[in-house]
Amino acid sequence: MMLKQVLLQFLLLLSLFVSSFTTTITVVAAAATTTSILNSETYLPPQFREAPEFYNSPTCPSLTEGNNNVIGIEENEKNSTLICSEKAVHVAMTLDAAYLRGSMAAILSVLQHSSCPQNIIFHFVVSASAAASTTASHPRAIISSSFPYLKFQIYPFDDSAAAGLISTSIRSALDCPLNYARSYLPALLPTCVRKVVYLDSDLVLVDDIAHLAATPLPGAAVLAAPEYCDANFTAYFTPTFWSNPSLSVRFANRKACYFNTGVMVIDLARWRDGGYTTEIEEWMELQKRMRIYELGSLPPFLLVFAGNIAPVDHRWNQHGLGGDNFRGLCRDLHPGPVSLLHWSGKGKPWVRLDSNRPCPLDALWAPYDLLKTPYSFES
Ligand SMILES: *[C@@H]1O[C@H](CO)[C@@H](O)[C@H](O)[C@H]1NC(C)=O
Ligand SMILES: *[C@@H]1O[C@H](CO)[C@@H](O)[C@H](O)[C@H]1NC(C)=O
Repeated sequence: MMLKQVLLQFLLLLSLFVSSFTTTITVVAAAATTTSILNSETYLPPQFREAPEFYNSPTCPSLTEGNNNVIGIEENEKNSTLICSEKAVHVAMTLDAAYLRGSMAAILSVLQHSSCPQNIIFHFVVSASAAASTTASHPRAIISSSFPYLKFQIYPFDDSAAAGLISTSIRSALDCPLNYARSYLPALLPTCVRKVVYLDSDLVLVDDIAHLAATPLPGAAVLAAPEYCDANFTAYFTPTFWSNPSLSVRFANRKACYFNTGVMVIDLARWRDGGYTTEIEEWMELQKRMRIYELGSLPPFLLVFAGNIAPVDHRWNQHGLGGDNFRGLCRDLHPGPVSLLHWSGKGKPWVRLDSNRPCPLDALWAPYDLLKTPYSFES
């Protein structure tokens, strides 16, 4: 068992390094930090290298073929046909200063392991204040300079609206209102986009995202994600919640299991029809009046969807690699195959690499790092 695990990690590491395109040797700078605010006037954005262009394999479908019944959302018709393409794999992510380096690595990993990278359309949610910036720190400028060939759209998110709903007792969540942006994707993205893969910024894929995007959503399932039925579901809600029958009845006829909201395949059309954003907001309003859960953005998702989601193989969210929330201990992979590595938890690989105290698995993130350090040079 142990040996298999070690062997798997070695093979994974090897395949990553072999497939890694990078021609730039990067010497990790001791103290490069990216903690400034994206929308601050004085803030000098971190510099990222340009990623190479990635090409479709010959068998990839054309994005514009057989796509006559699309609803235009831009003046430019060709452009909107592209954005609405049902052949495209739609990926949604948030972009904010604290996780920008992670987002860049995630995008690169998606493209690098895709057999149809030109068929991927990214949808980036940014804070409204960052979107209003006219400087080089504008998210569009940052993305375009590293990924000149990327198909993407930027969506400003009025984070003050979500901030008003966040219970004041949850400080860390308040620091990052974009955490809540995933609940608003169905309203933010154009209605012609039916299905999207939502990804957190602290992860890399090592497999073709098209396989994840093709997850079936049978029946009325609104979203698909890996489920963890061994996790103690009770612990996500307070005794106040469980002792109130009018609240706990919520889970009475469901086999509710924990799922991580960092990797989800979402049927946006069903979400819109069901009005689930309103439902999530109602639970958040209730949380402000009586404490029914401890964590930030996850429990409302569990309340609305747990027990009714479509399963995804665990290989698509090897989560927890950020380590323990309190002490930041290193974590190992869960047994089984790996398609996506997720550094959820307190520690982030770029922070640990910069401080020269990486966890062993952080070496799997490093090949996707696009940050230009003062000491990087072209080989
Ligand atoms: C659509 O056009 C706009 C403006 O010309 C551009 O900024 C955007 O990136 C385009 N979207 C795609 C998916 O090509
Ligand atoms: C699950 O969590 C609850 C609340 O934290 C606790 O009381 C209970 O003992 C736990 N159950 C198991 C099986 O660990």
